[in-house]
Amino acid sequence: MKALITAGGRGTRLRPITHTRNKHLIPIANKPILHYALEYVAEAGIREAGIIVNADSDEVQRALGDGSRWGLRLRYIPQEAPLGLAHCIKISREFLGDEPFVFYLGDNMVVGGIRRFVEEFRSRGSNCHLTLSRVRDPERFGVPEIRGDRIVSVEEKPAAPKSGYAVAGIYLYDRTVFEAVDAIRPSARGELEISDVHQWLLEHGRRVTFTEMTGWWKDTGLPDDLLEANRLILDHMPARENAGASVEGNSTLVGRVILEPGARVVNSNIRGPVIIGERTVVEDSYIGPFTAIHHDCLIRRSEVEFSIVLANCRIEEIGIRIEGSLLGFDARLLQARGKPKTHRFILGDQGTVEIA
Ligand code: TTP
Repeated sequence: MKALITAGGRGTRLRPITHTRNKHLIPIANKPILHYALEYVAEAGIREAGIIVNADSDEVQRALGDGSRWGLRLRYIPQEAPLGLAHCIKISREFLGDEPFVFYLGDNMVVGGIRRFVEEFRSRGSNCHLTLSRVRDPERFGVPEIRGDRIVSVEEKPAAPKSGYAVAGIYLYDRTVFEAVDAIRPSARGELEISDVHQWLLEHGRRVTFTEMTGWWKDTGLPDDLLEANRLILDHMPARENAGASVEGNSTLVGRVILEPGARVVNSNIRGPVIIGERTVVEDSYIGPFTAIHHDCLIRRSEVEFSIVLANCRIEEIGIRIEGSLLGFDARLLQARGKPKTHRFILGDQGTVEIA
């Protein structure tokens, strides 16, 4: 069995972060989103994975290398333009050959990995096995209509969803999927839609089975999804030895606080679950639950809670608590000096600031 993992697309909903960085490389709990996918695939016993990448960038290749870190052999498959998820399968025909495969959307996160879905697909012997997750907003996803224990139809982003489930971004197929991929036509938005593949398989009598996910699953398309995925991962993260980090002065650490090597906490109060990255300094500050601060940051005389702060940020002397925030690489949040007392913004394209 092989894996096909997506790492292309434009990530428009995560701008401005994705102006400079492929969304799959954004860290969640200080680890790039895509690493979780590779770990889960390797853990399911798969050894060969194709990675769909944007043809105009080698950022993902540079970040992952040949995959040996995960015990995987990686093949990069360039996509000229984001023409849809079924297009990703179409251009991977030669790599996939006739083997069954798991198609994994690289921006999806799922607790407990994918081994159980792979096993279920194998034991059911179906042509296509879908994973379903109950969601509050099914209209954002492909939505199945279920009768008894069967899926009878799948619609992409329906205005009136026929169930409260989303088809999650972990799909299993045998080679009959290529018949569907070749038969469907682009949708109104110009993409070869994966939901149309599933609908085609159902209409043509192929065996489509499913597993209902019992744990959480998250599609990280929007900033709030990243914060939620970060919260969930931190919530499940086992405690570690904080080797190579230092806690100094009058500091208190409560709950699960992970300090990566070289991190320094000085006269600060940290309430876990929290992760603080390599060489980051937190001084005279409060860091609250569900916060991930990445490498080489400086947080001084400030309060941060339920947030993601990416590498090399500086937050100094901010008089109000920063909450529910996502700060991109190299961002600066500083107190303005002098008079008049003003807010001053140097904001990237499509940035957002909300002021209390
Ligand atoms: P989406 O989240 O649907 O698309 P996107 O990443 O371009 O984001 P946005 O809507 O914010 O612009 O993509 C789901 C996954 O599939 C994600 O891993 C990106 C990837 N993808 C491709 O690799 N190629 C494609 O043609 C498409 C549509 C998505």
